[in-house]
Amino acid sequence: MQVTEIATRAGQVIGRCQRLASFSEDPKTTRRTFLSAPMRECHQEIARWMQPLGAQVRIDGAGNLRGVYPALQPNAPHLLIGSHLDTVPNAGAYDGILGVVLAIALLQELRGRELPFAIEVVGFSEEEGVRFGTPFIGSRALVGRVDQQFLSVQDARGISIRKAIEDFGLNPDQISQAALAADTLGYLEFHIEQGPVLERMNLPLAAVEAIAGQSRLELIFLGRANHAGTAPMNIRYDAVAGAAEWIGSVERVAQQIQGLVATVGNIEAKPGAANVIAGEARMTLDVRHSADNIRIRAVEDLVRQANEIATRRGLSVRETSLLSQPAVAMSPFLISEIEKAIVKTGCQPHRMVSGAGHDAMIMAEKVPSAMIFLRTPGGISHNPAESVAQEDVEKAIECGLHLLDQLASSSEFYKRNERA
Ligand code: GLV
Ligand code: MN
Ligand code: MN
Repeated sequence: MQVTEIATRAGQVIGRCQRLASFSEDPKTTRRTFLSAPMRECHQEIARWMQPLGAQVRIDGAGNLRGVYPALQPNAPHLLIGSHLDTVPNAGAYDGILGVVLAIALLQELRGRELPFAIEVVGFSEEEGVRFGTPFIGSRALVGRVDQQFLSVQDARGISIRKAIEDFGLNPDQISQAALAADTLGYLEFHIEQGPVLERMNLPLAAVEAIAGQSRLELIFLGRANHAGTAPMNIRYDAVAGAAEWIGSVERVAQQIQGLVATVGNIEAKPGAANVIAGEARMTLDVRHSADNIRIRAVEDLVRQANEIATRRGLSVRETSLLSQPAVAMSPFLISEIEKAIVKTGCQPHRMVSGAGHDAMIMAEKVPSAMIFLRTPGGISHNPAESVAQEDVEKAIECGLHLLDQLASSSEFYKRNERA
């Protein structure tokens, strides 16, 4: 492949990511949550890019976009490549989307060449957990982890996951058809690093060796609403004041434990007026560590501290666990193939742990899974300033093409799975 061609392709990848960022629920910023109206536009646009490549595109029962580029033989097993199509509020243009658009760029660069396996591009419907508090709705459907109880989880407007799927024109009773075929070969995900490591090391790409575990909880401090002007300071049951004391200890605990990160990212006071002492403060807690026992102990400690603070202030606390996702190792075989492919692009290989959660951690339950990180300028993500350098996208495309060729000729990968 010519150097100029790959530069043009990388430029197109960046342009496409920016275009998809315009499909948003918010007028001036990017926000695209599970099965929202702009998600349909996003599906339609991606299908328009994929169909001319000979790919069959469908939306499965969990709202995931699945586009299959054929193999040399019919009924060949699939290698999945993808990431998520949903975003956080006020998002950048690359988190998730880049992995889907890059997968399509690889198909473009195959230029009609078919491999011994079909390549299925997957655009997961939900990974961020923004709408329902609980993430990975899309990838859970592929590994068969969506049951009736999960479908009954509701968003802030009281709409269940089941209803959201129906409202989008899909049938939640067909979610089982989203499950991976038994002969699926594996899952690859390109994603921006979303942190500072590769930039500091002056490297464009890395292989992910493991993804840190994460816990998500909702905590509600309950007090008593009262008049802000007449209730003396020593006779108050102020839910926000209790929550504020606890949020301070969340930060202190995380600072004291090496590698632990803990975040209260969303808080809501009720009734929510300047002249009313809050009777209720509802917030989220997100805790992550690469060692599950450290994460679990930290969550227990933080919940205990919330209860102590509440008791001392005459308040009470209700906590609900939304997610306890263990840390997950990526496939050692795929990691070493990614490293070989990175070397072929002329770059130095590097292995790292991902602090961010990814669909690959769910997919790894069922199939060999691995990720390739791209350097993230300034380490900035979950922010409209998120970016990626065109030269790094070029390296990622080159790496992906080498990787596909390696896997197509690998007795350990493809031939091991060859059916009789
Ligand atoms: C996904 O962006 C996460 O929360 O790690
Ligand atoms: Mn994200
Ligand atoms: Mn992401």
